[in-house]
Order: sequence, then C-alpha cells, then structure tokens
Amino acid sequence: MTCIILYSGKGGVGKTSLSAATAVRSAALGRRTLVVSTDSAHSLADALAAPVGGEPTRILPNLDALEIDVNRELASHWGIIQEWLTRFMSFQGVDEAVAEEMAILPGMEELFSLLKVRAFAEKNAYDLIVIDCAPTGETVRMLGVPEILGFYFKRIFPFQKTVLKGVRPVAKRMTDMPLPSDDVLGAVQAIYKELEGLTPLLQDPKRSSIRIVLNPERMVINESQRLYTYLNLFGFPVDAVVANRVLPPEARSKYFDNWFALQATHLAEARRDFEPLPFFEARLFDREMVGVELLDEFAREVFKDQDPGAVFFHERPVEIKREGGGYAMYMRLPFAEKDRIQVWTHGDELVVSVDNQRRHVLLPRSLAGRRLMGAAFAEKRLRVGFGGREHDGR
Ligand SMILES: Nc1ncnc2c1ncn2[C@@H]1O[C@H](COP(=O)(O)OP(=O)(O)OP(=O)(O)O)[C@@H](O)[C@H]1O
Ligand SMILES: [Mg+2]
Repeated sequence: MTCIILYSGKGGVGKTSLSAATAVRSAALGRRTLVVSTDSAHSLADALAAPVGGEPTRILPNLDALEIDVNRELASHWGIIQEWLTRFMSFQGVDEAVAEEMAILPGMEELFSLLKVRAFAEKNAYDLIVIDCAPTGETVRMLGVPEILGFYFKRIFPFQKTVLKGVRPVAKRMTDMPLPSDDVLGAVQAIYKELEGLTPLLQDPKRSSIRIVLNPERMVINESQRLYTYLNLFGFPVDAVVANRVLPPEARSKYFDNWFALQATHLAEARRDFEPLPFFEARLFDREMVGVELLDEFAREVFKDQDPGAVFFHERPVEIKREGGGYAMYMRLPFAEKDRIQVWTHGDELVVSVDNQRRHVLLPRSLAGRRLMGAAFAEKRLRVGFGGREHDGR
C-alpha cells in the first residue's frame, strides 16, 4: 500500500526542503519513495541538486523525483471543457481572453497533478509518495476544487445530459448558443470519476497525511492556523507540524537577541495551539538546504530516529457518533471562532462555513433526512446534533 505525505505552508517556509529531506531519508530507510512537486514553480531539482523530469527520474537507489508538467495535466483533463466554457462565456458577451481565464478554477492545475499522483499510488510502485505543494492558498483551493466541481457536476451536468439529447437539434435551429457536445460531457464524467477516488484517498488517515510547515513568526503562524482549520473543515488529516528556521544556540549574538526572544514566544504558543499534533523543530542551518547529503542530515536532525515516511497522528477531523436517540457529528475546527461559523442543511448536505470557506458535507445515509438539532462549538470542535427523521413526524 502506498502512503502519501503532503507538505503545505506559507510561501518560502521550507516545504520543498522538508519534502526532499523526508524523501531522501525514507529512501535511505529502504522504502521505495517518490517525491513529487505539484507547484508550477518547481524547485525540487534545485533542492536535490539533480535534474528532475516530467516523468519519475531516478535520484538515488529507492528514490525517484518528479516535477509534474502542470499545464499538460490541465490541458489533457480540462482542455476540451475549457474550450467549451470559453465559447459559452464569449457567447454571453465575456471577452474571449477573460473567458479563457475564467474557465479554469483556481487550484485546478495542482488538482490535476494530484490525479497523476493517485495513478502512481494505485500502481503500488512506491511505498511512499511525498508531495511538495504550492504555498497555502493554492493548497486550500486545490483541495477544495473537487467539492466545488462535484457540486456543479451533480447539479448541472446530469440534467444537461438528459435534456440535451432532445434539445440539441431544436436549439441548433433556434440559437447559436454553444451547447456541450458528448465529448465535453464525457470529459466531465471522466474527471468526476477520477476525482471521486482522489478525495477518499487523501482523507484516509491510514494512508495519507498533510504536514504543516511554519516558521516561528507571527504572520506565518496565523496563516498556518487558518490552513489547519480549512484542512479540518474539508476533512483532510494532518499528522504533524514542523517549525523550520529555528535559530540554534550557536547563533546567539547581541544582534539576534530579540529574534531569539520572539522565536521562543512564538514556538511556545504554536506548540500549545497545535496540541495534540506532534510538533517538530528544524534549526536554521548555516547554508542553503541543497543536495541529498545535507537533506538526509536535515531529516535526521528534525525527525531523530523516527521514520519521516510514517504517519505520526491518526485522528479523524470529522467523526459521527450515536448519542441518545439521534446522532452527533463532530468536526474539528481548531482556531475557528464561534461567531465565524455557520451551519445549515441543504437537501442531503450539511453546509459548514468558516469565513469565506464553505464545505458541503454529503451526509451519510444514517444522517441524511434527520432533523438538525442545533450546533454548538466547544473545545475546538463543532458538534452538530441530528434528531429523528423529518418524515417520521417525530
Ligand atoms: N532550515 C533551513 N536552514 C537553512 N536554509 C533553509 C532551511 N529551510 C529552508 N532553507 C532554504 O530556504 C529557501 C526556501 O526553502 P524552500 O524552497 O524549501 O521553501 P518553500 O516553502 O518550498 O518555498 P516556496 O513557497 O517558494 O515553494 C531555500 O533556499 C532553502 O534551501
Ligand atoms: Mg517550494
């Protein structure tokens, strides 16, 4: 079984260095390892100090690296749909160049790269796949895209598919409005199918985990906390936090005194805030993290004798429990504040929104159709109660 570990965090905090270090160490421990970059601004090759191609490239025994051609993945999955959406929007009066841009959801490029990763995971050619992500915002968008696409696909395309057969010949005579061809609908269905398998894979805490990389600085920590909330909201397990660029004692000097104090405060706070997640510290080296030897040393320093390719923490962000006569759903929303959370149901979906991020949780059969019995937020968890079934009249 292939495990997947994905590093995310604010720009420049050390995601690429830690991904590469984890992969180098894992390979040294005898696991067949692939390290993949889904960031269109690739820098894996720079970190590994070796050429890395658009197909797995051998770096060391047991270690392959891959810089995915993000645009190629996008074109092969979405090209035909994008073309149609562009024509459709131009027809509606949107400028063609703008329409072309609008036909791509933010985060989509990275998402299609993940589909490639999934294909590798299914072939079982590797024990571990480490993913080096684009900075936070992109990760959140990338992981949110399947939900958004699923939302539209379910509502728009099945309907279109059934009505189109009858409408297309008539519509052709009456209007020039571009209607999606069977090829377009086929492409939509193919994506939908592929995506369906991706999210459960990334949400299975036994197989996949996300690690948050941060630096001990206020703004970086704040962004990491928001990232953690969103990951929990979307149901993606997180198994560790790595605080990188921690000043080592050797760096003590009058000039850095204030930085030492700041870092100590921030580290203590971050450790407490992310409890009970495992929390690792990585010192600021006296050089850039380039080359497999240094990366191996980096990983050994950070993870000590633990295997960085193992999942460190297995708690599920969303849990459903039987309570009394009904059910309760618990969702971990660390760092979210009570008045920023809204909850409602819509058909067989529960909608939870925190700030401008919104999640549609497709309710399991045991909960769908049950009456919402209110929501409460305590100890960083949202509890949503479900009572009897609506049609029971109870
Ligand atoms: N602990 C460290 N000690 C010294 N240098 C480091 C350390 N961690 C990272 N660096 C260096 O900092 C730079 C940025 O690191 P890296 O590329 O890993 O960050 P990133 O989070 O992947 O950035 P981006 O968001 O741009 O992808 C690199 O030159 C790297 O070698
Ligand atoms: Mg990077």
